[in-house]
Amino acid sequence: MRIVNTLPALAEALQPYRHPAVVPTMGNLHEGHLDLVRIAKPLGDVQVATIFVNRLQFGPSEDFDTYPRTFAADCAQLEAAGCDLLFAPTEATLYPQPQGFKVVPPPELADVLEGQFRPGFFSGVCTVVLKLLACTQARTAVFGKKDYQQLMVIRHMVNQFNLPVRIVGADTRRAADGLAMSSRNGYLSAAERAQAPQLHAVLQTLAHAVRAGDSDFEALQNQAMAQLRTQGWQPDYVALRRQADLGPAQPGHSLLALTAARLGSTRLIDNLEI
Ligand code: PAF
Repeated sequence: MRIVNTLPALAEALQPYRHPAVVPTMGNLHEGHLDLVRIAKPLGDVQVATIFVNRLQFGPSEDFDTYPRTFAADCAQLEAAGCDLLFAPTEATLYPQPQGFKVVPPPELADVLEGQFRPGFFSGVCTVVLKLLACTQARTAVFGKKDYQQLMVIRHMVNQFNLPVRIVGADTRRAADGLAMSSRNGYLSAAERAQAPQLHAVLQTLAHAVRAGDSDFEALQNQAMAQLRTQGWQPDYVALRRQADLGPAQPGHSLLALTAARLGSTRLIDNLEI
């Protein structure tokens, strides 16, 4: 695997290729990220990963400074997963001056759910993803469904800007006990880690009720929130939405159950297609 840090080196490394298949990441990689690399590999003529902890998508009280930077381990894992080229820019390379132009995603997509609790998050994500897709000349890009709303917002951005990039969503990788793999799982204490699969279990209960024909979505969401609180979580939301656009859930549509909740000081998100 070749590693490049600058834009000229990236352009030179990409020169022989016509169809980069790109996996953008913020590093601190786990098996979920490596799945994305393995999925991307046959979808292009070169598999490119990026590692960049994007300040723009972190709120002032969030974990930008403490976000784990594990570059050497990440490189070893990417190499083993078959990645061809890693682009790992510094902030000065990707943001040589303050980023004045920013993508402003529409509020109905980006100010709900995660966006309600993380103002500016999707603008920061879209802005860096647009830059990374441009720099890497991506023709395919793979994102995880664990960040379902992020995947959907990026799909809409790529569509509305007519970017020549195919966006591929990859299923969430879970630990044997159901916990969705996440870079932030590393923040959990041993006791919290043992408790963390409850988040997935609550979504499964919700999905089971919907599949069984219960269409009182409001009550189901409230019950799930109450269950999490009883178990010691502080939920931001448990929501049933349409899969296609995250609009309000209606019977007869493919639905998605989404949640974000804090366990101690760690905020986790998860979702389940129904
Ligand atoms: O999902 C992530 O790791 C990040 O939000 C992304 C897409 C790499 C943008 O910084």
